[in-house]
Amino acid sequence: FSSFNYRNHQLFAEEIPLTAIAAEFGTPCYVYSSAAIRTAYQSFDRAFGQRNHLICYAVKANSNLAVLNLLARLGSGFDIVSGGELQRVLKAGGDLQKTVFSGVGKTFEEIRIALAANIFCFNVESEMELIALNEIAGQMGKIAPVSLRVNPDVDANTHPYISTGMKENKFGIPAAEAERIYAIAQQLPYIRVSGLDCHIGSQLTEIAPFIEAAHKMLDLLARLQATGISIEHLDLGGGLGVRYDLEIPPTIEEYVKALCAATENYPQQLLIEPGRSMVGNAGLLLTRVHYLKHAPHRNFAIVDAAMNDMLRPALYQAYHSILPIAKRTGETKIYQIVGPVCETGDFLGHDRNLTLESNDLLAVMSAGAYGMSMSSNYNTRPRAVEVMVDGSSVHLIRARETIEDLYALEKIPT
Ligand code: LLP
Repeated sequence: FSSFNYRNHQLFAEEIPLTAIAAEFGTPCYVYSSAAIRTAYQSFDRAFGQRNHLICYAVKANSNLAVLNLLARLGSGFDIVSGGELQRVLKAGGDLQKTVFSGVGKTFEEIRIALAANIFCFNVESEMELIALNEIAGQMGKIAPVSLRVNPDVDANTHPYISTGMKENKFGIPAAEAERIYAIAQQLPYIRVSGLDCHIGSQLTEIAPFIEAAHKMLDLLARLQATGISIEHLDLGGGLGVRYDLEIPPTIEEYVKALCAATENYPQQLLIEPGRSMVGNAGLLLTRVHYLKHAPHRNFAIVDAAMNDMLRPALYQAYHSILPIAKRTGETKIYQIVGPVCETGDFLGHDRNLTLESNDLLAVMSAGAYGMSMSSNYNTRPRAVEVMVDGSSVHLIRARETIEDLYALEKIPT
């Protein structure tokens, strides 16, 4: 967590003590380090060296406009999965000509908006989507640039709680069908075959599955080229893991270098769609201990953040390190760190060894990716405030929701 460090037993975000952030903005509060995001982007970019490449940040990981704007200014492209994400990229000053559109269920309206915006490429996930895209492009007098997202049938070997969701058959086109559907795409008048795409899963902690997928894609690419279908770019998706606990994922540099090496005999532009590895360890969720409750067999620390703010522990039993903002001396106890939501699944961490008093501040670490973006208003809890630290300044990047915000769209029938 290189941008979050202790100084004199106080946790800092870059140059700012987190106690000061809690005092100014309240809790729960998502805190992001712009230096950490910048460093991650630049590590990706530099590792490609001279290789023709495009980094398309996966917006779903953290779609705050300030995060998107920071990445846009660094030159990043974007991977979007909805019209909403497209609009965010636009609003944040992102370049839609560096944007790819993934997802199995693009609506016709979303396709129209993306065609009008001249995005870089549609990552098409089914034959039916391809036909629809051709038809809509024809109506609009446009030619749609297309990659087929092929399912390379590689065991991503990732954390079981995440891989179960990622291995659903709904993603991509089976490898055995790819050539047939590329041949159709080649014939469609309003489709331009532009690339080849895959994405094998998330939170991968080894390089081997990425390389296996790349090799399968290159075999397919060669077969396609042999039938006269030209592929200009190869999109290898996202998925590089981050360190939450004891896992030791490859570094960004090792990962990119391995992708470049595996594809070195190919002139195609390389695309990647990193989400978690760009922002995961650039954020934490700041929360305050409200009550301590000592039951006979368990100690509970009831904090003011909950599963609606950070769903990953409840949904995947994901581990996030939980650190005290001000380290205390004294006897430690084993705590269950839980939120106020009325669900047994509402926990942020189990069995954490901490010295706590009520009112203490805690940081749920590695919360920059799939934290705020998966939040909800369950139990009519306003979403947390978000701030971004840049050196010794801190910027409010999303105000805390009010209760009025939560029912603003509701109506009581008269
Ligand atoms: N590209 C595609 C087509 C994707 O489906 C995803 C993530 C990415 C790129 C970015 O993957 P990343 O680099 O972030 O691994 N909510 C889960 C993660 C779901 C990932 C879904 N797809 C979690 O909190 O662990």
